[in-house]
Amino acid sequence: MGDVEDLKREAGIRACQFVQDGMRLGLGTGSTVRYTILEIGRLVSEDGFKVVGVPTSEATRELAESVGIPLIPISEAGRLDLTIDGADEFDPRFSLIKGGGGALTREKEVALLSDSMIVVADDRKKVEVLGEFDLPIEVKSRHWSDVSTAISSMCEVRVSLRGGELAPYTTDNGGYILDCEFGPTITKPGDLEEKLLSIEGVVQVGLFVGLCDAVVMATGSGVETIVNPVGRLS
Ligand code: 5RP
Repeated sequence: MGDVEDLKREAGIRACQFVQDGMRLGLGTGSTVRYTILEIGRLVSEDGFKVVGVPTSEATRELAESVGIPLIPISEAGRLDLTIDGADEFDPRFSLIKGGGGALTREKEVALLSDSMIVVADDRKKVEVLGEFDLPIEVKSRHWSDVSTAISSMCEVRVSLRGGELAPYTTDNGGYILDCEFGPTITKPGDLEEKLLSIEGVVQVGLFVGLCDAVVMATGSGVETIVNPVGRLS
């Protein structure tokens, strides 16, 4: 197994120190949080934890079911105690870019229902300014071309339809994803999110602002938990 995979596993498992018996959990999507979900499955099957999960994607639903985590749909969730999810980038203010795996809309819905959110990541995801990773935006499929034009003229950025026109990537909600090349320029993610959400046809924007309370980050020299000083866990 490669080094990066080891880091993902270490971060994913370490985040389970925040999981307590009886919790209602938001279960994120991606290759790092996959290890968290496997470990929660172990807590359920071996340690007798009684938790319920709300999956943020069909892939996570299948994985969680395969390891025996009881699940409820988001429509029945009410409030959740904790969401654990991955991220594509996080900045010093704990703002995130998410959506590399295409699940940003459900991920944000679940994060908004949660009393706290922990991100699992390796240190490649830590940045000073968001935007080196192309910002994913979910759009209604029939509007993708108009939305793409609106974003590129509003923000002067290059926009690509994920998967290309011939075989566009389709989300679990039936939407498309536009990946937007801002470069490391997103210094006011909240303002940008608001601007992009105002475009007709935009379903959700992969900027998560004011939602992340801690990052469990794996580095070559160990796992570090960085707690947001103005978050809900401090
Ligand atoms: C999915 C996401 C993922 O959490 C994000 O892409 C990070 O994934 P990984 O841990 O595989 O790097 O936002 O929509």
